[in-house]
Amino acid sequence: MTAKPVLALARTLPDDVEARAARDYDVRAAPVDTPALGGEALVAHADGADGLLVAPGNAVTAEVIQALPDCVRVIATFSVGFDHIDLDAARARGLIVTNTPDVLTDATADIAMLCMLGAARRAGEGEAMMRAGEWIGWAPTQMMGVQVTGKRLGIIGMGRIGRAVAKRARAFDMTIHYQDSKKLDTAVVGDAIYHATVEDLLPHCDFVSLHCPATPETTKLMNAERLALLPKGAVLVNTARGTVVDDEAVIAALKSGQLAAAGLDVFTGEPNVHPGYRDQPNTFLLPHLGSATIETRNAMGFRALDNLDAVLLRGEAPGDRVV
Ligand code: DGY
Repeated sequence: MTAKPVLALARTLPDDVEARAARDYDVRAAPVDTPALGGEALVAHADGADGLLVAPGNAVTAEVIQALPDCVRVIATFSVGFDHIDLDAARARGLIVTNTPDVLTDATADIAMLCMLGAARRAGEGEAMMRAGEWIGWAPTQMMGVQVTGKRLGIIGMGRIGRAVAKRARAFDMTIHYQDSKKLDTAVVGDAIYHATVEDLLPHCDFVSLHCPATPETTKLMNAERLALLPKGAVLVNTARGTVVDDEAVIAALKSGQLAAAGLDVFTGEPNVHPGYRDQPNTFLLPHLGSATIETRNAMGFRALDNLDAVLLRGEAPGDRVV
């Protein structure tokens, strides 16, 4: 019997995913889950492995990639985003990199709606008041938020997740505006109104939801100048990546009232959260829960394994090759 390929898991995965991995691979379990392995520890964990399964939090830097043992042929990330992996370094080493698109679209779009509603309707503040036993009763002026129904939603990045958010927002009678690198077919985006630039889009947004990837071009995309283009009292939603916003600018806009509220599921330098967000009552903060449902996390794991299986078990091209 031929030996199974060795798969190093850099994170602890859902039970069903680990069980399937163990069926087909000689699995090296993650020694720790959080804080996620990085640097020399990640390199050491990959020693003797044919494949490495990572996730956001594992910083797969150029240094890590250069130091990986030659036996590693493929890095599969348990995520759609791959900003934690230095793709140029992977390309230079001839490594295959795969991700898990599609399967987390609905869960992430659901969380974007939760962030939108949670921020607009002050759900975090209300929940904290209830838990603290500080509610003294209904009052006509208590915790008045921003109405969501019927408002204008601007979506930056009209990919799978952006479109899934638009679909949900239409159930709230929202008018959808979007910005993307190109105007998309009506068959794909329906009646959503296209704006060629973020600057064109923002004046039309009572709510703005970010769904673009983290790239050098989108770093601090939502900066002070762009936030100032929003109508006063707009609500910002970020379920993409923390780096897409300029934290200082967002916090200043939350303080001034330029932003009525922000619903944030992602942060620069996770798990660190800029203390300014915690200090602001008009933020609704979640710990990167976008894809965190049992169904979705299983699907992500199976999709990552499908990609690994293609490369390591069948010698084929993986379905979700990034590099
Ligand atoms: C991803 O897959 O990139 C998500 O951020 C994880 O929820």
